[in-house]
Amino acid sequence: MELLTGITVRRSNYSKLPAVDFSSLEFGQHVSDHMLVADYAHGEWQQAQIVPFANLSLSPATLALHYGQTVFEGMKAFCTRDGRINIFRLERHYDRFVRSLDRMCMAVPPKDLFTEGLVKLVQIDKGWVPRKGGASLYLRPFMYASEAKFGVKVSDQYRLIIFSGPVPELYAEPIKVKVETNYTRASKGGTGFAKCGGNYGGAFYPTQEARKQGYDQVLWTTGDDNPFIEESGTMNVMFVINGKLVTPPVSDSILDGVTRDSLLTLAGDLGYPTEERRISVAELELAFHDNSITEAFGAGTAAVVAPIKTICINNTDHQLPKYSHESLWRKLKHKLEQIRTGTEQDVHEWNFMI
Ligand code: COI
Repeated sequence: MELLTGITVRRSNYSKLPAVDFSSLEFGQHVSDHMLVADYAHGEWQQAQIVPFANLSLSPATLALHYGQTVFEGMKAFCTRDGRINIFRLERHYDRFVRSLDRMCMAVPPKDLFTEGLVKLVQIDKGWVPRKGGASLYLRPFMYASEAKFGVKVSDQYRLIIFSGPVPELYAEPIKVKVETNYTRASKGGTGFAKCGGNYGGAFYPTQEARKQGYDQVLWTTGDDNPFIEESGTMNVMFVINGKLVTPPVSDSILDGVTRDSLLTLAGDLGYPTEERRISVAELELAFHDNSITEAFGAGTAAVVAPIKTICINNTDHQLPKYSHESLWRKLKHKLEQIRTGTEQDVHEWNFMI
């Protein structure tokens, strides 16, 4: 594509790539050689640059460090079977980034800057896009309030950074989750739908407690007297109940997951009935008692699909039936991978080929 924003590039004269073992990647362990940096100041976006990945120098008074005006996105680039590179659902990620930024009163980077910045960055670091199925180049656009002033205020300055790193799939093995009714991740009218840093930091403590009890993740609920299911860990959650794919509807406390949307669409394509509706913890418990629940899984960009084997409700572990090749989550995950790698036709136009 033709680049319109005139992003300048200063290339690294050293690559970390030869030191990376692509056969044993760990999520978040490696960062690619370059990053994009663009500042917002005096009411406008300044010249964006792609520079060697490096540490930041921040004033201790930087607003983001105190009042949490910080937002991120998580998206992926894949290598297609014919050797091209595809950024998956770029526009939908941009739209969500904008919604998160608006909620946090932050400046919004123009779509051209976001798009061309990602494209140019991935082109420069194309050697970092894993060739192996399942693995991908994780793209992490994020923004923070960069004004160095500790008064409690909306920042007048922001920094957009985009960096990337090769990642494997997370949670390939089925996980154990605990329904959490004591702590909540988000509440009505809060910031749960936004991808702001605080949502993740606030989730650490309950997750750590659940881990001590032998669970991998928390199944978040509304936490009231008649709690409803919200999300699973850092992912949306989906169930197969009575042969239907059921997931809570997006709301101000649930993230509008890109993988969630993709899987719902693909399930429809496969002729599977889908329902976006509220699911109470009581309904979930009943579904275990009458064996109408056959699958449960998390859906998110990092993990893609995280199958769940155990759900703890009120101190009782409920086991999901063993998954097989016929399990819906496997079919959905496979179909998604086929589309991203160009093996199956991209009928929904999700691939942004660069
Ligand atoms: C993602 O699935 O990409 C997420 O946002 C989770 C992230 C915190 C690793």
